[in-house]
Amino acid sequence: MKPLFITFEGPDRAGKTTQIRLFCEALKEKGVEFITTREPGGCPVSEKIRTIILDKDNAMSPLCEAYLYAASRAEHVAAVIRPALNAGKWVVCDRFIDSSIAYQGFGREMGYETVMEINRLALQDTLPDVTIYLNIDPRDSMARQREEEKDRLESEGNAFFMRTAKGYAEAMRLGGERMVVIDALGTIEEVHSRIMDAFFKKVAL
Ligand code: TMP
Repeated sequence: MKPLFITFEGPDRAGKTTQIRLFCEALKEKGVEFITTREPGGCPVSEKIRTIILDKDNAMSPLCEAYLYAASRAEHVAAVIRPALNAGKWVVCDRFIDSSIAYQGFGREMGYETVMEINRLALQDTLPDVTIYLNIDPRDSMARQREEEKDRLESEGNAFFMRTAKGYAEAMRLGGERMVVIDALGTIEEVHSRIMDAFFKKVAL
C-alpha cells in the first residue's frame, strides 16, 4: 500500500493535539511506519517562520501572512513531507492547506482562489490523501481559550472565527473524497473512536 499523507484540521482548541497522539498510537499498534509533523513548522526554517507569524507584536497584512504560511509550507513539503512519503513512511500532519483556505481565504477574506494561487508552487501537487476535520462550533472552541495564552491568530475577534468556520465548511466541500468530518464534541475517547471508525472505513489496514 502506498504511504498515506494524513492531515488533521479544525479550529483552535478543537482537541487536535490529543487526537493526533491517540491516532498515532493506533497506527503504531498496526505496525505503520510514520512521522508526525505540524504547520506552520515541522522543520527548522518553518518553525522560525511560525514564531514570526504567531508573535502578537508582528502586525502584518493578510497578504504577508498568507505568503509566510505558504513559505513555511514550501520548505516543509520539500524537506519533510515529500522525502518521508518517498521513503515509504506515512505522514501525519497537524494542519495543512485547508487551514490556509479557512483562515486566510475566509477569516482574512482573501478568497479561495487567491490562497490557492499563493500556495500552488509551495504544494508541488502534494495534497493529503485523508483529512480528518474536527468539527466544533467556533463558539465552543472559543470558550475553551484562555485570554493570556492566546497567540496573534487566536487573539482575533468572534467574527474572524465565524468566517473561518465557514471557510472550513467550504474546504470540506471542495476537498470531496479525502475529507472525513468528525463531531469533536464529547469525551476524548468518544472522539477518538469516531475518528478510528471513520478512518478504517476509508482505509483498510
Ligand atoms: P496551531 O495553534 O494549531 O499550531 O496553529 C497556529 C495558528 O495558525 C492557528 O491559529 C491556525 C493558523 N494557521 C493559519 O492561519 N493558516 C495556515 O495555513 C496554518 C497552517 C495555520
